[in-house]
Amino acid sequence: MSDVLLRVENVRREFDGGRVQPLRGVNLTVCENDCLAILGPSGSGKTSLIHIMGGCDMPTCGRVLWRGKAVESQDDWRRLRATEIGIVFQEFLLLPALTAIENVEMALLANGLAAAARRKKSAELLERVGLKHRLHHLPNALSGGERQRVAIARSIANGPALLLADEPTGNLDSANAEMIAALLLDIQRTYGTALVMVTHDTALAARCTRQVTIRDGLIIDDDRTVRTA
Ligand SMILES: Nc1ncnc2c1ncn2[C@@H]1O[C@H](COP(=O)(O)OP(=O)(O)O)[C@@H](O)[C@H]1O
Ligand SMILES: [Mg+2]
Repeated sequence: MSDVLLRVENVRREFDGGRVQPLRGVNLTVCENDCLAILGPSGSGKTSLIHIMGGCDMPTCGRVLWRGKAVESQDDWRRLRATEIGIVFQEFLLLPALTAIENVEMALLANGLAAAARRKKSAELLERVGLKHRLHHLPNALSGGERQRVAIARSIANGPALLLADEPTGNLDSANAEMIAALLLDIQRTYGTALVMVTHDTALAARCTRQVTIRDGLIIDDDRTVRTA
């Protein structure tokens, strides 16, 4: 039995005094080495859940625990995101005025490395995601697939135990989508990073070992499969 990394406990998220309820009592446990897809129709609460799992948004009630301890403050979340949790968004969210390598270096600022070491590590990370030839390009000079690869390099810069990805292939054509999916699955396997990936692609979800389905703010299914690819 693997150790529990993150636990979402009885989480509700409400807006507008309860008129909008993206999450209506969600419980989810993510263990070390998990490879988990989150499926569900548009508007079912997938992004709301990923945001709460990464501390980008706070639950209206319920709580999130990291390795058994409640995450309580913004400082706790900042520390976790600097060391233990990486996040990849559908929109890439790179800083447009910074080059690829500078975007990755930003993620390393908190960990005390000297500038030269940050640069070297960032170059290695970009090489790891196949972008050795794009280190000094600005995001708007990169394709969507390349931008997402920079975002992935940034997300794994600090060797996270958990990688959250919200429709990471949602803005990409099918060839780039496949490349990004393969990269994320390879990172999961190579480093044993737990991966939680929102996707609409059932074939991609089937390549994960666990499929969680969310509907109307509730988890309605949590299946495990043997790896197929
Ligand atoms: N900040 C917000 N304010 C008001 N409603 C929101 C907010 N965030 C999400 N919602 C609503 O919550 C529901 C779930 O949204 P979301 O989590 O983005 O779903 P999904 O990612 O599954 O498409 C939607 O109806 C959405 O409009
Ligand atoms: Mg969404």
